[in-house]
Amino acid sequence: MTAKPAESADSLESGPPVVLETVEALRKAVRGWRTRGETVALVPTMGALHQGHLALIEAAFEAADRVVVSIFVNPAQFAPEEDFDAYPRAGEADLKHLAEARVDTAFVPSAAEMYPPDFATTVRVGAVTEGLCGATRPHFFAGVATVVTKLLLQCLPEAAIFGEKDYQQLVAVRRLVRDLDIPTRIIAVATVREPDGLAVSSRNAYLTPEQRRIARSLSAVLHAMAERLAEGAPAIQQVDRGMAELGVAGFDGVEYLAVCDADSLEPISSVERPARVLAAVYLGTTRLIDNVPVAPAARA
Ligand code: PAJ
Repeated sequence: MTAKPAESADSLESGPPVVLETVEALRKAVRGWRTRGETVALVPTMGALHQGHLALIEAAFEAADRVVVSIFVNPAQFAPEEDFDAYPRAGEADLKHLAEARVDTAFVPSAAEMYPPDFATTVRVGAVTEGLCGATRPHFFAGVATVVTKLLLQCLPEAAIFGEKDYQQLVAVRRLVRDLDIPTRIIAVATVREPDGLAVSSRNAYLTPEQRRIARSLSAVLHAMAERLAEGAPAIQQVDRGMAELGVAGFDGVEYLAVCDADSLEPISSVERPARVLAAVYLGTTRLIDNVPVAPAARA
């Protein structure tokens, strides 16, 4: 990526974003804005920007005067056998998206800037990261929690924006910000979907046309479960039915399908307060996650 000189971080004109590569440069830019009374919102991403990320950026502009988008493919949240090397890196295309979205500052640190060779600290969030994705990917949430803590402390934004698409990640971030007294408001944005319901994701690019056709059933099954759960159907019965429906749709495997309390992520047996239906499924080697809200119906 080509960096514009850091002094243009002061400009509010649109054009390619200023690319800051060091924590020092980020702190300097943020200090400059602060002295002028401007507020800052941070949108952490791993790049390969799409409509989902752009919705977060819109929410960031509603929350603050200045928007920093970080782009960092965080090695700490990939297990050795996972797709770190293959993870899509969009480079110039990302900067173009950011320019179109009028973002003036991208924070794009190197791995060495974020994790110098003697780096030795890990942030672990307890209970809410243990089930669901955490059950099969124990490294994942420690990697996310560590990098998000670093990004928040590097930027010290008034607000940071996260997508409900990664619902367990959102809950974990809310918890760590509360537990560590980080003075940043966490704002959640609803999942952006393709017209057929598939949640927009960088990993959708891995799907073959046939897998892409099957993939749309994931949100359909989750939404149908949510409707029946809201009407009072027992969770265990809906999970069984949902598993069967995912099998018929043609998914190659279901890692989990669960009905959980929306705040604690504890599994629940029926919906009495806000809940979430969450799933991780496989199409070939591609892992897709999705979740939908369930609001308890007002029952007599
Ligand atoms: P990434 O997958 O790039 O996602 C960045 C943010 O975009 C996350 O908050 C994610 O929930 C949100 N997002 C992705 N797809 C979305 C969609 N379809 N609708 C709404 N929001 C969506 O999540 C990460 O990166 C990383 O774990 C990160 C938080 C940056 C830490 O490395």
